[in-house]
Amino acid sequence: MSKQTLTITDNRTGQSAELPIEHDTIPAIGLRQLKVQADDFGMLAYDPGYTNTASCKSRITFVDGDRGILRYRGYPIEQLAEESTFLEVAYLLLFGELPTAGELSDWTARILSHTQIHENLVDLLKTFQAGAHPMGVLISAVAAMSTLYPEAKQVNDVDNRLLQIWRILGQLPTALAFADQNRLGRPRTDPRAGLDYSANFLHMMGLTRQADGEVDPVLVRAMDVLFMLHADHEQNCSTSALRNIASSEADPYCAVAGAAAALYGPLHGGANEAVLRMLAEIGDTKEIPAFLDRVKNREVRLMGFGHRVYKNYDPRAQIIKRVAYEVFAVTGSNPLIDIAVELEQHALEDDYFVSRRLYPNVDFYSGIIYQAMGFPVEMFPALFVLGRTPGWLAQWVELVTDPEQRIARPRQIYLGEAERAYVPIGERG
Ligand code: ACO
Repeated sequence: MSKQTLTITDNRTGQSAELPIEHDTIPAIGLRQLKVQADDFGMLAYDPGYTNTASCKSRITFVDGDRGILRYRGYPIEQLAEESTFLEVAYLLLFGELPTAGELSDWTARILSHTQIHENLVDLLKTFQAGAHPMGVLISAVAAMSTLYPEAKQVNDVDNRLLQIWRILGQLPTALAFADQNRLGRPRTDPRAGLDYSANFLHMMGLTRQADGEVDPVLVRAMDVLFMLHADHEQNCSTSALRNIASSEADPYCAVAGAAAALYGPLHGGANEAVLRMLAEIGDTKEIPAFLDRVKNREVRLMGFGHRVYKNYDPRAQIIKRVAYEVFAVTGSNPLIDIAVELEQHALEDDYFVSRRLYPNVDFYSGIIYQAMGFPVEMFPALFVLGRTPGWLAQWVELVTDPEQRIARPRQIYLGEAERAYVPIGERG
């Protein structure tokens, strides 16, 4: 077998460093031995946006962006979306294996027993002004939960971690639904025993479509599938933010709040909202060529297209496109779907997008479904948060139980001023 090392020669000095290769990576700290002067700090790797830096070893989610593959704990996303449920996927992500029937029923009961929110949180949610964006409200709500459950700070206690996981998964949908109903000046709808996770959320959101006031099973299933598709995506922007925060042993509420804040931006989880606004602005399929010219002139981005990792069709986008038509069979079509489908076709035939390997991502079609189901546009990123939370929690547990992990603390290349003396204000030019 060939030698599993990488030899790097520093041509400034002729000095070589031999670094071990493990899983196709080298330990970055090994570069530090390369110095010109003995008292130099040593060489660093420069990687803005972490495009080629592995920050952890993980066993949760596998993504092959070139081949369009996504698996949770080894199970293809297509099979999970077809056969599993959101809470089963949450269990899988957190514990590494599919549950037995008994384990699933216990897990589900635990989470659904934590759907009531604390009255202090209700009071807090009432203080937000009309029109407050749900993401600001949700981030505040989950951070505020850290004040209600101070024992969550014991991040190295297994049982304590599990209790916080049940609470976060159980309470977030209630807090979000309550915030939305409050925003609309509607009375609060409490969680209802006997409903599963997604049905309960749609019930609390008031998205009941049937004459008897029940939620439509097709929409419940669509919600569950959408949550599953968003449940984890390895070391993306929000998950990395969560790992950074949790590496200082902050409690999981604060870590999830920080992750949600990172998700909110339009280049990440805020893209679903941005796509809807973009499609509405295009307004008519006739306007697509002119819009794509603006994209190619770099005036605007084609939201919902492109991905740091996928250089092929995002497998989640394929599934979502199918779900869209199942939902429309119940809700009636969303006219924006025609614009989206034609926009996708134009883009996939255009050299600008083909040469850069830009394909629809998970956010391209999800907002169209959410809108058809009756969710307001500004709610879309918060729906992404609900779906992603089990993934964040699984990554949190993996981080705090990984003996190789340390507090996150990247280096910088300092290009500022060298030392200089302070000038009193009266002597400045
Ligand atoms: N529209 C137009 N051009 C694009 C787009 C887009 N959506 N995405 C990438 N490009 C172009 C860039 O201009 C760049 O071209 P250049 O090399 O000629 O300068 C090239 O493709 C590479 O793009 P980068 O920005 O370097 O890719 P990066 O990996 O840094 O960014 C990102 C990935 C942020 C997702 C980007 O594709 C984007 O902004 N997409 C739109 C927002 C979006 O849909 N985000 C959701 C992502 S999925 C998720 O987070 C759930």
